[in-house]
Amino acid sequence: MATVEEFQDRLLSLGLARVSEAAALASAALIGRGDEKAADQAAVNAMRDQLNLLDIAGVVVIGEGERDEAPMLYIGEKVGTGNGPAVDIALDPLEGTTLTAKDMPNALTVIAMAPRGTLLHAPDVYMEKLAIGPGYPVDTVTMNMSPSDRVRALAAAKGCASSDITVCVLERPRHEAMIEELRATGAAIRLITDGDVAGIIHCAEAATTGIDMYMGSGGAPEGVLAAAALKCMGGQMYGRLLFRNDDERGRARRAGITDFNRIYTRDDLVTADVIFAATGVTQGSILKGIQMEPGWVTTETILMRSKTGSVRRMSYRSPVK
Ligand code: FBP
Repeated sequence: MATVEEFQDRLLSLGLARVSEAAALASAALIGRGDEKAADQAAVNAMRDQLNLLDIAGVVVIGEGERDEAPMLYIGEKVGTGNGPAVDIALDPLEGTTLTAKDMPNALTVIAMAPRGTLLHAPDVYMEKLAIGPGYPVDTVTMNMSPSDRVRALAAAKGCASSDITVCVLERPRHEAMIEELRATGAAIRLITDGDVAGIIHCAEAATTGIDMYMGSGGAPEGVLAAAALKCMGGQMYGRLLFRNDDERGRARRAGITDFNRIYTRDDLVTADVIFAATGVTQGSILKGIQMEPGWVTTETILMRSKTGSVRRMSYRSPVK
């Protein structure tokens, strides 16, 4: 039988699902309306309001930016009622603001919670990322391999040809050479315009999504959120911070990072058990988007706990207020 502490932990995880759900509901009216900022702001406001109702002594470690640039949910902001466990919070109230504004697939609201001091305080710089799903030996693919070697290594581990591997990559000029090298192996490339948290999560459900591997650079904060999801779903991930100038190195130093060349594994990014919740905003392959019908709105949320390996999918239908 569960102890009281375990029961409270589970209740808290349900609370976290309500937080991501509220952010998604708030952005619903802004899907496809061409206004990224308004969609993001609506999600931020709702996420903050709900988060502050939770009985936690939370600190935002991955948030909307540094204190002077983000009025709400800034890094270091205290959240929750202050009564309850001391936790780190990583969040992205709207992961895929442009996807939402243009009604393109896979925009999500995302939040993760772990014991205080266990989520990497990733500065707002780029991170080179590499991820595969569960079921492969450790280090089947590594950061030190070339992109084409990673495809060959993963194909060998999967027992298939390189041409049976699909790699997800953010469509950016900085990835052109990598995409060319990947295509030369015969692998298929699923290009996404935004949203690499969803891109990485896709690797954990390869049979459904058709994506075997994720690689390329994107936001470092999103890297921590993706690692939290993979820690719950299974799968391997590596990340290395990328710095373009001294300002970015300064951000990293202020976040307490000293080794600028470190390769982080999934469990270095998230060092203890974590709870992860995400709600679909636009239609996606992992989560359904928000569905509006006259008088009603429906959302789908995924709620996962790495401690137990539980993955819960929740559909919520409510009258439109
Ligand atoms: P938003 O901040 O607009 O939601 O964009 C998110 C995102 O696509 C992330 O998923 C990704 O890590 C990052 O932006 C990529 O950054 P860039 O657009 O600079 O390549």
